[in-house]
Amino acid sequence: MQATRALEPHDGAETFNYRVVRQFSIMTVVWGIVGMLMGVIIASQLAWPELNLGPYFHFGRLRPLHTSLVIFAFGGCALFATSYYVVQRTSGVRLFSDTLAAATFWGWQLVIVSVMITYPLGITAGKEYAEMEWPIAILIAVVWIAYAVVFFGTLAKRKIKHIYVANWFYGAFILAVALLHIVNHLSVPASLWKSYPIYSGAVDAMVQWWYGHNAVGFFLTAAFLGMMYYFVPKQAGRPVYSYRLSVVHFWALIFTYMWAGPHHLHYTALPDWTQSLGMVFSIILLAPSWGGMINGVMTLSGAWDKLRTDPILKFMITALSFYGMSTFEGPMMALKTVNALSHYTDWTIGHVHSGALGWVAMITIGSIYYMIPRLYGREKMYSIALIDAHFWIATLGVVLYIAAMWVAGVTQGVMWRATNPDGTLTYAFIDSVKATGPYYVVRMIGGAMYLSGMFLMAYNVARTIMQGRAVDAPIPHQQAAHA
Ligand code: HEM
Ligand code: HEM
Repeated sequence: MQATRALEPHDGAETFNYRVVRQFSIMTVVWGIVGMLMGVIIASQLAWPELNLGPYFHFGRLRPLHTSLVIFAFGGCALFATSYYVVQRTSGVRLFSDTLAAATFWGWQLVIVSVMITYPLGITAGKEYAEMEWPIAILIAVVWIAYAVVFFGTLAKRKIKHIYVANWFYGAFILAVALLHIVNHLSVPASLWKSYPIYSGAVDAMVQWWYGHNAVGFFLTAAFLGMMYYFVPKQAGRPVYSYRLSVVHFWALIFTYMWAGPHHLHYTALPDWTQSLGMVFSIILLAPSWGGMINGVMTLSGAWDKLRTDPILKFMITALSFYGMSTFEGPMMALKTVNALSHYTDWTIGHVHSGALGWVAMITIGSIYYMIPRLYGREKMYSIALIDAHFWIATLGVVLYIAAMWVAGVTQGVMWRATNPDGTLTYAFIDSVKATGPYYVVRMIGGAMYLSGMFLMAYNVARTIMQGRAVDAPIPHQQAAHA
């Protein structure tokens, strides 16, 4: 906790634009808390249904608010912050346009606030993870185009010839999300706050889950792998284990993800061959996912001892372990026979949160802890002990959450398919609801622990900022491979 020396930029030197990185980093923590609080609220509503109050604070309206806040507000701000940081440092230049970058910050916050107002009011397009009505969807598209201009414009004017692999992942994420968002949102407005998709029936479902799955693949995975490829080697003080593997990882991953969407629609009206295709590509996806995970973990070879003392690295390596776990579980759940049991159950929710809390949130938390002192002219965070406490409470929280959901999910699946010798169902649906009750309480406790870790983070970040002051680092002159 001792005060550390502030790092000063050289007078008059050209600097990186850290202002927008600082803004997005702080909002990552803020939205992380709000989004996870919403998670704890809806988890409590499932455990104690009497907490569903009126139409505005009902589970059905708050659930999409939770998913949008954690994915787009928390995850989105983290991706803006880290991609702007990484692209500048690895290109050796300032962002392409400060004005456009600032516009992406304010535009994105406006998107989030609009979502927070419209969803509780019941204004929704009704497609999961794409609930925002058309005016907000258009705003997102505009902000996203500005983001693409800033990111690719910075790459275009780079001083370092090589494009570091993290930027490939961020770049693919920006392009793919633009494509997914625009195609899935094509709709005909009926009024200011109501529209209908141009697709119908099974085609609509297929487009939605092509979007939904690739939102996972590009928003919640590819971009966070970009984060992993920059911040894990930085924090470990070692080069990436295999740069060649990282390039193979990139192409294999982005090629394969695009085809796997139908595994969300097994046993539906979708043609059977598309379901099988989705299943096969999901199995193939295990290989690039694990290639990337191993590349990240092995970056620590020769520096394993650092894991004992460095809680930021603990966050990052645990994140990679959860990434490996959820990308093993996902292909298994994509098998039609397994999906017959897991679909509609809480097993899916367990899978989602081992990816979301274990992988996405932990790699984000590690990366934010890495950046904050550097953005505020400090050598390290205010308290390393608090980061360690955060790590343990978050890890215990996520384990409680996912273990509860796995047990609940398998219990539900098994109860629903149990039959008596005469062929009638052994259990009524309500029996499975009753059996799930205790696990919902455990999940809520796990979520509340994870959330309390975020409060520790907010305090630690605030104290670090108060001790330091906003500093824009000078652009180094040397042509380093990646700064
Ligand atoms: C304190 C932490 C959190 C808690 C307590 C929590 C709780 C919940 C609950 C109760 C649901 C609804 C489950 C259902 O409908 O049965 C849910 C859904 C969801 N959450 Fe969270 N959540 C948390 C953090 C996160 C984070 C950080 C992310 C993403 C980065 C996330 C992504 C999602 C997604 C994608 C769904 C929808 C899953 C589906 O439709 O299958 N959550 N969460
Ligand atoms: C190889 C990688 C993966 C594969 C093949 C895969 C496969 C699957 C499958 C089969 C489902 C269940 C579909 C259903 O029955 O409805 C699912 C759901 C889901 N997965 Fe994964 N998964 C993978 C990795 C991940 C990761 C890393 C994350 C998060 C960061 C994630 C997030 C989700 C979400 C949010 C859902 C719920 C979608 C919904 O119904 O709303 N997945 N995944």
